[in-house]
Formats: sequence, C-alpha cells, structure tokens
Amino acid sequence: MIILGIETSCDDTGIALVKCRSPQGCEILSNVVSSQIKIHAPFGGVVPNLAARAHLKNIEPCLLTALKEAKNPKIDLIGVTTGPGLIPSLLVGVNFAKALAYNWRKPILGINHLEAHIYANWLKPIGEISNSQFLISKNIFPALCLVVSGGHTQLILMKGHGKYKLLGQTRDDAAGEAFDKVAKLLNLGYPGGPIISQKAQKGNFQSFNLPRPMINSHNYDFSFSGLKTAVLYLVKGQRQKQGQSLLRRPLRTVPQGLSLRVPDICASFQQAAIDVLITKTIKAAKDYRAKSIMLSGGVAANDQLRKQFNSRLSAVSSQLNFLVPPKNLCTDNAAMVATTAFYRTQASQKQDWSQIQAQANLKLVA
Ligand code: KG4
Ligand code: ZN
Repeated sequence: MIILGIETSCDDTGIALVKCRSPQGCEILSNVVSSQIKIHAPFGGVVPNLAARAHLKNIEPCLLTALKEAKNPKIDLIGVTTGPGLIPSLLVGVNFAKALAYNWRKPILGINHLEAHIYANWLKPIGEISNSQFLISKNIFPALCLVVSGGHTQLILMKGHGKYKLLGQTRDDAAGEAFDKVAKLLNLGYPGGPIISQKAQKGNFQSFNLPRPMINSHNYDFSFSGLKTAVLYLVKGQRQKQGQSLLRRPLRTVPQGLSLRVPDICASFQQAAIDVLITKTIKAAKDYRAKSIMLSGGVAANDQLRKQFNSRLSAVSSQLNFLVPPKNLCTDNAAMVATTAFYRTQASQKQDWSQIQAQANLKLVA
C-alpha cells in the first residue's frame, strides 16, 4: 500500500510517500521537508500567519518533488495532520489534502500529530536497518512513549496500535519550548534546541546547579518554566558580577557584548532537562511494567538525551527495549503521518473526506 502523508501543523511543510506492508511496516519512498526557519528566526519563534503563507507557497512544489523522488507511484491513501497545531498552518495542509482526495478520488484519514511522532518509530529509512524490523520481530507492548516537541511533553502508555493512556504531561512549557526560550534569552537564535545542544558540547554540565522541577513528584507530570526562569536569574547574576546595573535595563535577552559562560549555561540547562525527562520516563516504565520505551518529537533529536537514555536504561534493565527514530525523523515530517495512516487502516478505520477538520487542540487521548 502506498500512502501520501501531508504535514503542516507548525513551521515545516512536509510531503512524503511511504510503502507499507503488514507486518513489515513502512519504508520511505520520499520525504520532503521545506523548513521555514529563515522566515521565523528574526522573530525568535513561529509567526502563525507567516507560517501559513509559506505553507501555501511551498506545498505544491513539495508534492511535485515528493512524487518525482518516489517515481510517481500509484497512491492508495492520503494521511494528513489535522491537529494539534497552529490553525492557520493546519488549514493549509488539511484543505490541500481534501482537494487532492476529492480530485483523485482517494480515501483520506485525519491524523493526530503526536500519534504521528510516536509512529516515526515504525519507519524504515531508505537503505537502513532500523527500528521497524526490530519492532516487528519483538513483543514491544505495552510501550512507554515520551513525546517531547516544541509544543508538547507527554508520557503516554501505548497498549497496542491506536490504544493510548495519557500518564502525564507538562503543566507549563514544553521541553522544546524551554530549549527555544533559553536560547532566545542567551541570544543564540531560533530554533533553540540544536544550538543549545551544540554549545553544550563545549561546556561543563556541572558548572551551575539548576533545579530539576518535579523530578521526585508522585505523578508523571512535568514543568519546565521554573528551569527556564532559573537560567534567567543565573544570567542576571552573571551580569551583576560584571558590574551592569539591573535597574538600567530589564533583561529579556542577553545584551550583545556581555561575556557569559554560554557553553556552561547550555550544558547545565540541558542536563537538568535530560535528568527530569529520563528519570520520570523510567519510573513510569517500571510502574506500568512496559516492555519498551519509545522516544519521539523534535527534542528526541538531542544527542545527549539519546545517549543518556541508552546508558541509563542498560544500567537499570536489560529487558526494556529502547527505541528512538533517526534524528531527521524526530523533527516534523510527513513520513510519520503517512505511517500512522497505514496503522489506522490496519485497524479498519475509515473517514469521509468531508468530515476531516483542522483542530488546534486535538487530543490523542480524550
Ligand atoms: O517535533 P518538532 O519538530 O515540532 C513540534 O511538534 O513542536 O519539535 C521542535 C522542537 C523545537 O522546540 C526545537 O528546539 C526542538 O524540537 N529540537 C531540539 C533539538 N532539535 C530540535 N531540542 C533539543 N535538542 C535538539 N537537538
Ligand atoms: Zn512535531
């Protein structure tokens, strides 16, 4: 079965074609992502109307490239992200997908963006041995899924395909949002995650003792805004040490020219976030006797998070499988959307195209 995936929930226009078979899983035929970083970087975050305008401009060229790269296969199904996300962005992808489905007379399924992040673990990149063969050969459910993106941080128990229980989520900022805000504070640019992880490589994570919010709480929720505020006060402290009056100018970002121990701050912040994410996920996996842990979402592209998850897990249990998609499939893409659509059809799910609507706050678990 060949599936066309369409993703426009935030600032990446994604169009992909995947080939899926049961029980082998899905193989990528093409996976085109048009990034809008240059458009949003001057604003330090995504501007919804500019994002929608760029999606409108890019979506058709992305489709044509994806079709060409996949050698124009016959499409059996269309999967499109309907939420959660920015409404102006979602509307572009959803209406484009509906128009294609109507015009081509193809079935279409609306897909939850968070579920799609989880299903990135079922993708087989071209020519690579990946998680998918492994997943199919092993008994992986129940799986504990940590979805960490710019908009969400959720711990989800996946009991089987399409069967979810939400265990916990962030009470304020998402993990990726905290990376982005700290980067903004340090004048490092947007998006913050990749820049912080790069700077952190040259820093000492023990330089500053930052809080690990809710690390020992008796639930599976997270909170990252306090950690971000701790970085703000750390920067203010450093500025005071350098004799700059705090009264002179409120601090929202580091003034140019102020010398800060940026790599040390980045490494200390990153380690605090990683400690919380790993500790709470392992606790939930133990409590729910999970057979595997699946990491996904943009923050899952973080090298230290991937490495430390692996080492902490092998120290804790040799029974627990650890799965994480290749880095380019952790951030937003349409191949994960198409893969989710495949598993939906396996569960005999069908949708009338006229029923498919963009929903900013679409929930994976009611
Ligand atoms: O999943 P995603 O592409 O979009 C959303 O659904 O939000 O995630 C984007 C988020 C951004 O906040 C970005 O800073 C973060 O993922 N991110 C990272 C890394 N790469 C992307 N965070 C930490 N380390 C990274 N290497
Ligand atoms: Zn995402």
